[in-house]
Amino acid sequence: PNPATLLRLQHMFEVTGDKLSQISKHMMAEMKKGLASDDQTMKMIPTHVVRRPKGNETGSYLALDLGGTNFRVCEISLDGHGGTRSRQSKHTVTDDLKSGTGEALFDFFAECVKNFLKNDGQHEYTDKEIESRSYKLGFTFSFAVNQVSINEGYLMLWNKGFSASDCIGKNVVVLLQDAFKRKRLNISVTALVNDTTGTLVSHAYTAPDTYVGVILGTGTNAAYVEKIENVVKFKSHGNAKDMIINTEWGAFDDEMVVIPRTKYDHKVDRGTAHYKTWTFEKLISGMYLGEIVRYVLADLVKTGEIFAAGGSKTLGVQYAFETAYMSRIERDHSLDLSDVRTVLEDLMHIPSTTLADRRLVRAICEMIGKRAARLSAAGIAAIVTKMNKLDGCTVGIDGSLFELYPHFSNRMRDALHEILGFSADNIVLEQARDGSGQGAALIAALADTLTE
Ligand code: BG6
Ligand code: GLC
Repeated sequence: PNPATLLRLQHMFEVTGDKLSQISKHMMAEMKKGLASDDQTMKMIPTHVVRRPKGNETGSYLALDLGGTNFRVCEISLDGHGGTRSRQSKHTVTDDLKSGTGEALFDFFAECVKNFLKNDGQHEYTDKEIESRSYKLGFTFSFAVNQVSINEGYLMLWNKGFSASDCIGKNVVVLLQDAFKRKRLNISVTALVNDTTGTLVSHAYTAPDTYVGVILGTGTNAAYVEKIENVVKFKSHGNAKDMIINTEWGAFDDEMVVIPRTKYDHKVDRGTAHYKTWTFEKLISGMYLGEIVRYVLADLVKTGEIFAAGGSKTLGVQYAFETAYMSRIERDHSLDLSDVRTVLEDLMHIPSTTLADRRLVRAICEMIGKRAARLSAAGIAAIVTKMNKLDGCTVGIDGSLFELYPHFSNRMRDALHEILGFSADNIVLEQARDGSGQGAALIAALADTLTE
C-alpha cells in the first residue's frame, strides 16, 4: 500500500502509552464524580448487590439475558455445593422488534419463556400445567437503568440498536412482569442485573479473586466491587461494606476531552440514534468497529487511494461492514490474502482488489482493532487502580469481541503493561463464558438475603 496513506491513518488511530495513562487517569476522576452524584457522564450505578454467593445456594431459577447478540432464556439449578446445571434457548431479536413497541418486545420475551417452559427437552407440558406453577427469575438487562432496588430499575436510554417505544423512564421489571401476566405466567422477577454484574458474580463463583466483570461484545461496559463508603451518593441503610457498581463506561469521555477522535468516529456517532452519547463504546465495541472501517474505506475510494475500479453499493450501506469481517481479515495470513479478497469482493461486492489494496485493508483493521483493545485496557487500568488492587485480582471478561477477535487480549495485555508497568503482571484477564445468565440466577438466589 501507499506508505503516505498508511502513515496518515496510523497517526490518526494511534493511541500512545502516555495517552493511555492520561485516559486512565481521567476515567478514574470521572468514576469518582459518578460515585459522588447523579447525572454525571459515568453513571456509576449502585447495583444493590452487596454479597457474593458462597456456593451453598440451592434452588432452581429462570434467567433472561437481553442486550447481547442473542436473547437467551435459561433455567439454572444450584446444587448447594458450588455446582450448577442449566439448559437454555437462544433467540434472535429482529430489527422490527428492536424498533417496534415496548409491549411487543416484552411480549416476545414472555412468549419465548412460555415455549421454553412448555418443553424441557423431555416432556411437553400444557398451557394449564405451566400456568399453575410459580417461578423466580433473574433478569439480565444490559442497558443503563436507574436502579433503585435489587429488582427495580428505570431505563435511562437505549443503545446498541434498540429503540422500542414507551420504555425510557419505565421500570423494566414491571414491563416484563406485565408481559408475563398477559401470558398468564406466574413468574416473579426477583433480580434485575446488568451483564457486567452477572459476569462478575458468576466468574467470582469459580474464581473468588474476581473483582471486575467486563463485557467486550456488541457493547462494552464494566462492573467492579466498590467500598460503600466511597459511594457518596448512595444512602446506605444496612451494614454491608461493599457493593458492585455498574460503571456504564460506554459513556466515558462523552465530552470528548481526552481521547483523540478521527473524522470517521464522528461519522459513526452521527449515524446512531444516540448521537454524542456512549461515545467510548463507539470506539471499542463490536457493533461499531466495522462501521469505522467502512467509513475509512469509503473515504479512500473517494480520494482514489484504494480499489482503482471503484467501491460498491454495499460499501455505502450503514453497518454493512461487520466487525466479524475484521476478525476474518486479521486472521488471514495467506500470501495473497485470499480470505481478505473473499470478504471484499464476495461480501462487500468490491469489483476487484489488488494485493496492495488488501494489505491496506488489513492494516486498517489492525489499527482500529488495536485502538479498541488499548482503550478498553485503559478502562481496566483505571478500575483496578481505583480499587487499590494493583497487587492482584482477576477480571472476568465476556462478549464476542474478546472471545473471537484475534489478538484482542494480547493487545489489551500490552497496553496494560504500558500503563501499569510491572503491576500489570498481577492482573489476570480471564475469559468468562455465558456467565451473566448464571450470574442473574445466583443474584436471584441471594435476593432474599440481600440487604442494603
Ligand atoms: C454473553 C452474556 O455471554 O455476552 C451477555 O451472557 C452479554 O449477558 C454478552 O450481553 C455480550 O456479548 P455479545 O457479543 O453477545 O454482545
Ligand atoms: C451498553 C449498555 C450496558 C451494557 C453494555 C454491554 O453499554 O449500556 O449496560 O453492559 O452495553 O452489553
